[in-house]
Amino acid sequence: MLTAPERRSRPVEGLSEADAALELEALAAEIARHDRAYYQDAAPLISDAEYDALFRRNALIEQRFPALMRSDSPSRRVGAPPAPAFAKVRHAQPMLSLNNAFSEAELVEFVAGVRRFLAKEVSAEADDALEIMAEPKIDGLSVSLRYEHGRLVRGATRGDGTTGEDVSANLQTIADIPKTLPDALEVIEVRGEVYMTIADFEALNARQQAQGAKVFANPRNAAAGSLRQLDPAVTAARPLRFFAYAWGEVSAEIAATHAAFLEALDRFGFVVNPLRRLCRSVEEMLDYYRTMAERRRQLAYEIDGIVFKVNRLDWQDLLGFVSRAPRWAIAHKFPAERATTVLRAIRIQVGRTGVLTPVAELEPVAVAGVMVSRATLHNEDEIRRKDIREGDTVVIQRAGDVIPQVVAVVAEKRPPSAPPFAFPDTCPECGSRAERVADEAARRCTGGLICPAQAVERLKHFVSRDAFDIEGLGDKHIAAFWADGLLRQPADIFALPARIDEIRARDGWGDRSAERLMAAIEARRVIALERFIFALGIPQVGQATAKLLARRYRTLAAWRSAMEQAGEPTSQAYADLIAIEQIGPAVAADITGFFAEPHNREALDALAGAVTVEDAVVLPARPSAVAGKSVVFTGTLQTLKRKEAEAQAEALGAIVVQSVSKKTDLVIAGENAGSKAEKAKKLGLTVLSEEEWLQLTGAGAS
Ligand code: IVH
Repeated sequence: MLTAPERRSRPVEGLSEADAALELEALAAEIARHDRAYYQDAAPLISDAEYDALFRRNALIEQRFPALMRSDSPSRRVGAPPAPAFAKVRHAQPMLSLNNAFSEAELVEFVAGVRRFLAKEVSAEADDALEIMAEPKIDGLSVSLRYEHGRLVRGATRGDGTTGEDVSANLQTIADIPKTLPDALEVIEVRGEVYMTIADFEALNARQQAQGAKVFANPRNAAAGSLRQLDPAVTAARPLRFFAYAWGEVSAEIAATHAAFLEALDRFGFVVNPLRRLCRSVEEMLDYYRTMAERRRQLAYEIDGIVFKVNRLDWQDLLGFVSRAPRWAIAHKFPAERATTVLRAIRIQVGRTGVLTPVAELEPVAVAGVMVSRATLHNEDEIRRKDIREGDTVVIQRAGDVIPQVVAVVAEKRPPSAPPFAFPDTCPECGSRAERVADEAARRCTGGLICPAQAVERLKHFVSRDAFDIEGLGDKHIAAFWADGLLRQPADIFALPARIDEIRARDGWGDRSAERLMAAIEARRVIALERFIFALGIPQVGQATAKLLARRYRTLAAWRSAMEQAGEPTSQAYADLIAIEQIGPAVAADITGFFAEPHNREALDALAGAVTVEDAVVLPARPSAVAGKSVVFTGTLQTLKRKEAEAQAEALGAIVVQSVSKKTDLVIAGENAGSKAEKAKKLGLTVLSEEEWLQLTGAGAS
């Protein structure tokens, strides 16, 4: 049996059936991961060319071993399922993808195939009349706009092709998208590409950088990230544009050809790409492709190839679709632009979450008209797979992306003394151990609380609402206090009251604001165990996991000692930890990794000396009055925070729900309880005041 890297480097013809099955399994998982990174996170991990190569290898193996095709094969689906934040929209007509031609020969073959089909299915003369529309392939993200009776009623992303995300509110902010149509067709779905111009992308990145916000790798990611904002006001502030080029459901025939359809869209007020050209021969198609490949760098927006479409719509219908793509269209991608240069050094950057990212420092070189001196190396595995060493001559490429990538090493030019690159197992920022995370290619610094690269982000998390909830200590203050050495680790927050005079004297601070902050800090010296655990910011330990841990271990001392023992995978403590529902080996590894790091233990000691951590609420031994009852809290409570009240109710065995229905047993109405309390009264449910609730649950004063 071959090892995974051996399998990957073997040509498809050389794979045994068993190896092919393993390779298909690996490819399905890998491609799914890249789909998520691209579609959901708008942060691709590899270049389009590398992605295409994976996809193609998958297809070739399936071609050779059709019986091995998996139900989750990437060739059966388009893109990734929608991310959960937006409502889902099922497309009336699926949004499909295009097959790619990677060479002129493949384009010639596409045309020949269409001609053969038409000669057989239509007539021998059809062949002579074949016209093909050529259009730039816009490097953005496709969306579908649904108009009913001339009004824009919904807009959605492609998602997995069947179901996308409802981004109507965000699409409404794009000026290129008409909100009403002159022709009140019953239904028309117009599809096209949302994109950002290169100039707008660069200006956006400059603004983002100035604000310390996320910088986008390329205009496509910037467009995707901007469209998928939960707040449409953010999208409105981003300069997005739209080219229309296709349709989904239509209630009446609009045109007989694609060219006429595009003209109709133009009349309707859409922006249609003016660089399209109708071609009558394969020579004209190739000529257009070559001309555009030359011109692409002068365009205001990025294009990554040419899309060719059979012009007659009745012929498109005849040609139809094969699995995920139409037989009447093809995308001919441009080759990525490459150059060769010397890699001077590999530098390790540490991100906010502690991920170590290797960056290639290059001898500056021009690629596609831009000077490049750095390139991303992605991660440790990538360096090993490509055997990239300091001093190597490397091929780099800008594949439509602004951040160039190292494609390969020129082996003949390697200096004889260059040793393989040893990826550090300590963090270059703080010296803590850097660990590989199970199932991830990333190596992460475990110095969480003390690593300067991560510290500011972690401190922000520490004071956030669901953690220590310290009001008045905003992001800006944390960054400034950090920069001046006032704050290094969480425990330092509780030393701030002793330094109130220093703070009062700072720019932007006065007596009142300093005192308010001190009061907010003092108010949090006592904290529930689950909040404390959540506040530590251990990777994968969110509120729900923190709650489970708090309930299971009850006291900080017990939890801590168990987690330190659980570092030994054969221990009872480890077995107990992964026996907790929803805690598997990956989460356990993050928790024990946190405790294995001496810096974290020291930071925890310091913190434990500054605050009092309350033991977790113990579940009642006998059934409480509210056990099994479904309860709704509404309005403002006086003695408890809403979330605490809910947690307490859950601890007593009640089922907390958010909306009132006839099945609700109890509604607890605080001050200014609005529609929920009214509805409860109408339904004749029991509505309790906060005081009555406290008495019922035995927490009241009486
Ligand atoms: S036509 C059924 N035309 O390329 C075919 N697509 O790889 C519908 N794209 O999902 C697509 N420019 O996001 C078409 N002029 C163009 C395009 C274009 C960019 C994108 C689109 C599509 C992807 C396919």
